[in-house]
Amino acid sequence: MYADVLYPAEKPAFYRLLREQLEKYAAFESDKWAALSNFSSVLKIAFPRANWAGFYLVSGGELVLGPFQGRPAVTRIARGAGVCGTAWREGASQVVEDVECFAGHIACDCASHSEIVVPLRRPDGEIWGVLDMDSVDVGYFTRDDRAGLEDCVRLLEKFA
Ligand code: SME
Repeated sequence: MYADVLYPAEKPAFYRLLREQLEKYAAFESDKWAALSNFSSVLKIAFPRANWAGFYLVSGGELVLGPFQGRPAVTRIARGAGVCGTAWREGASQVVEDVECFAGHIACDCASHSEIVVPLRRPDGEIWGVLDMDSVDVGYFTRDDRAGLEDCVRLLEKFA
């Protein structure tokens, strides 16, 4: 059973605890969909101002919607399109302070004002999907979150 967790505000302590939580869901599960589903749930809970947390996975040359928490979202994103497709094409995380200022941002929920997208990588570096999180606040995600979430998604490497 998921015990409610009070996440600390201080980022290093927050990410230590978050990683510990996520590690359980990666280590004790062999099914990708089950693990990604619980990751999206834990992430949504851990970031109280996030209104969407989930995954798009590379399939048939595009990103296809995977497990998520939040409102229904666009199901397919081309390489280079939106924030997710940009992270895939550039091979780099995207921290978007204000989605209104990101040309080509794909709006799924008009409540979203900032966003972070972190690529999922195979051991050889190839990208097999992205983690996407949206927030109702402008500037919610920081460089610390980029580093922290990049570290967290490494736990998913075994599902690549
Ligand atoms: N905003 C994303 C689309 C996915 S939703 O945020 C869930 C983008 O621009 O790629």
